[in-house]
Amino acid sequence: MKRKVTKAIFPVAGLGTRFLPATKSIPKEILTLVDRPLIQYAIDEARAAGIREFIFVTSRGKGALEDYFDDAPELENSLRKSGKTELLEMLKATNMESGAIAYVRQNRPMGLGHAVWCARRLVGNEPFAVILTDDVIAAEKPCLQQMMEAYAETGGNMVAAMEVPPEKTSSYGILDVGEDMGAIVRAKGMVEKPAQEDAPSNLAVIGRYILTPKIMQHLHRMKAGSGGEIQLTDAIAEEIRQGESVYGFRFRGQRFDCGSKAGFLQATVAFALARDDLRDEFAEYLAHMAAVQKAAE
Ligand code: G1P
Repeated sequence: MKRKVTKAIFPVAGLGTRFLPATKSIPKEILTLVDRPLIQYAIDEARAAGIREFIFVTSRGKGALEDYFDDAPELENSLRKSGKTELLEMLKATNMESGAIAYVRQNRPMGLGHAVWCARRLVGNEPFAVILTDDVIAAEKPCLQQMMEAYAETGGNMVAAMEVPPEKTSSYGILDVGEDMGAIVRAKGMVEKPAQEDAPSNLAVIGRYILTPKIMQHLHRMKAGSGGEIQLTDAIAEEIRQGESVYGFRFRGQRFDCGSKAGFLQATVAFALARDDLRDEFAEYLAHMAAVQKAAE
C-alpha cells in the first residue's frame, strides 16, 4: 500500500546572492510577490496537497523566516480593535499550528541533495515531498496536489516536469524519458544540468518532488556532483539504476523562476494582474508603459 505523504521539506538555506543587496538582511524566501512572501506560496501549495508537517532546512541569517510563522497577537489585536476583519482573517490564515514546523540547520552550503539529507531524521521511514520556493507555479489546482493525485496511482518517486528550450538544459535536472504516457513519463535516467549537446531530452525537473525514504540512503553515500555539490538529481538517478520507478509529471500551470530577477518580475506582473483589487489600474499602467516603449523605438 502507498503511504500518504504528510511531510514536506523546504530547503531554504541558500544565500540568495542573486538578490543582493536585499538578501544581506532579508532571507530571499521572504521577498514578496505583490504582498505575499515566496514562502507563503510554497506553504499554501503544500497544505492544499495534504502536507501536515513542514520541515525547513535553514542556515545562518534566516531568523526572519522562522519569525514569520509565529502568531502575531499584538498585530491581530490592533486589527481587531480597528475593525479590519478582512486583514485579520488574511493574517490568521498564515499562522501555523504549534509543532507543525520543524527546523534543521544545514551548517555548510553543500548543495540541494545535502540540504534534503539534513532532514533525514525528521522524515524517518516515510515518503516525503520537497518544494523549492524559487519555483512558483500558478495553477488552478496547485501543482503538488496534481502530483499527489497522480502519485496515488503510480507510487514510486515523482518529479514535476516541464519542457524547456534545448539551450536551457544546463540550468535544470533533465529526464531521460523511457515511456511517455502524456502527463506522466517514466524516466530511465536523470542528469543534473547537462550541456545542450549532452542532454537526453529537454524535459526539465521543476522544484516539486515526491520521494521515497530510500533517497536518503542514496544521499548518504553520495559524492559531490555537478558544480561540486551533492545533487538530489544524482540520488534520484541512483534509484532508477536500482530498478525503482521514477516518474516525471507534466503539471498544468505556469511556472515562474523566482530565483532569477527576470522571472521574479514576470511573476510579480502575473500575480498583480490576477488580483481583482489591482488588475485594472495595473493593466492600464502596463499598456501605457508599452506604448511609451514603442514610441521610443
Ligand atoms: C535545482 C535542481 C534542478 C532543478 C531545478 C528546478 O537546481 O538541482 O535539478 O531542475 O532546481 O528549479 P537550482 O535551480 O537550485 O540550481
